Amino acid sequence: MDSASGPEPVITSRNLRKMYGPHLALDNINLDIPPGAIGILGPNGAGKSTLFKCLLGLITTTSGEGTVLGYDIRTEGDKIRSKIGYMPEYDALDPGLTGVDQVRYSGELLGMNPAHATRRAHEVLQYVGLKDQRYRKIETYSTGMKQAAKLACALVHDPDLLICDEPTNGLDQRAREFMLQTLKKTVSEGNRTVLMSSHVMDDVQDVCDRIVMIHQGKIVVQRRIDDLADQVEREIEISVWGGASKMQEELESRGLVVRRMGRVMRVIRVDDSTTTEIINAASNAEVQVRQMQEYDPDLEDIFLLIMDKLGAEVKGTSDLMTEAHTGGEETA
Ligand SMILES: Nc1ncnc2c1ncn2[C@@H]1O[C@H](COP(=O)(O)OP(=O)(O)OP(=O)(O)O)[C@@H](O)[C@H]1O
Ligand SMILES: [Mg+2]
Repeated sequence: MDSASGPEPVITSRNLRKMYGPHLALDNINLDIPPGAIGILGPNGAGKSTLFKCLLGLITTTSGEGTVLGYDIRTEGDKIRSKIGYMPEYDALDPGLTGVDQVRYSGELLGMNPAHATRRAHEVLQYVGLKDQRYRKIETYSTGMKQAAKLACALVHDPDLLICDEPTNGLDQRAREFMLQTLKKTVSEGNRTVLMSSHVMDDVQDVCDRIVMIHQGKIVVQRRIDDLADQVEREIEISVWGGASKMQEELESRGLVVRRMGRVMRVIRVDDSTTTEIINAASNAEVQVRQMQEYDPDLEDIFLLIMDKLGAEVKGTSDLMTEAHTGGEETA
């Protein structure tokens, strides 16, 4: 974890814990989130939505404490919700309303006067790309348009902090790119803080400068994306010609840790001698090493390596997206 120096944190928590009956959904959550773009990453059921609801004061925490924009999540949930924008995971729109009426209504619920809410509804619908569709009923909207409308509702009162639960869920490539672009713009031009959850590495990598990975209700990584590579061991990638199994055995008999993907293998680099060990192993196994280079992991690899260490059954981020949501949400 990084040092606490730098700007005032927007969100903090200490030993936050949430139980649903006997089920421990969040455990020992300690957050120090500075302004910027932060991605909350984790497999299905990790606790991402639960964390958001705790931070918003929508559900009561079992123990521990936290602040959002300086307000106490246990006692000042109403203040927090009036200051921040929240884009929930599930559809929270009224199909019978037009885009403008839906967003204006959200603004009025947040205490805005009708004239101001109406003016802002037009502004934010344009901002999220729904200018031409704003007088259409929500029931005629595509999934992408509904996600954009949810974002407009979250932005209507011009919040400093935006919390988006899976903003790209169900979107096709074009809608997804537009959503990510809009979130990026909100951070860079609007100078806002965005906290977004996702299953998809690429989304987070695209928008965020920091990451919090959650696994089974616990934070496993919390740091700048640029520093993530330090979290995993460096690997040397080799590609061999013939006898890959023999090569793997030979490497493992030397105490090296190998991940094999057909002819390509990645060997954890212990020190400078690892390369020599690989060459000697190849000579013993009588295989030809076609390529050997230090492997540069991307965010997806790092995520998988970390999850692998934790014993999670995750094969790729695409796996994480296939599981259907089962609902059963607790609402305020
Ligand atoms: N209202 C509830 N009552 C009981 N258990 C719940 C409730 N909401 C969530 N859970 C459980 O708490 C755990 C965390 O759920 P949560 O929805 O926060 O995960 P998530 O990371 O948002 O998952 P997903 O990626 O599927 O949205 C899961 O095991 C879930 O089944
Ligand atoms: Mg969720």
